Amino acid sequence: MPRPMVESVNCSLIAPEALVERQPISIKLLIDNEEVAVIAVKTEGAVHVYRNQCPHQGRLLDFAPGRVLAKDDALVCAAHGAVFAMADGRCLQGPCRGESLAEYALEPQADGRLSIAGLKTSG
Ligand code: FES
Repeated sequence: MPRPMVESVNCSLIAPEALVERQPISIKLLIDNEEVAVIAVKTEGAVHVYRNQCPHQGRLLDFAPGRVLAKDDALVCAAHGAVFAMADGRCLQGPCRGESLAEYALEPQADGRLSIAGLKTSG
């Protein structure tokens, strides 16, 4: 199956229609003038963008460059198998159970794309 192409335009814009439901992608975005590795995923029609940094040991979740394993409604870290809910980034299983991937807040733009508005804070 061909990999979906995701438009990540300068200044951290993501085109939601380019994401395929439950097929996460690992990309780099320019956030505050810094290149940041993120995972973008759409589940139940909602787009989520997480920092691609596992809370266990800080590694990328990728099993290959740009590829993150999806299992049911979860993302799986290739390093030691931590399983994170796609919908909120919470670790459901594995060595960092109870911790979460850092999620970015998204702001819809007039053209339908989403811009990164900064990291959400857990409260
Ligand atoms: S670095 Fe992700 S599970 Fe260990």
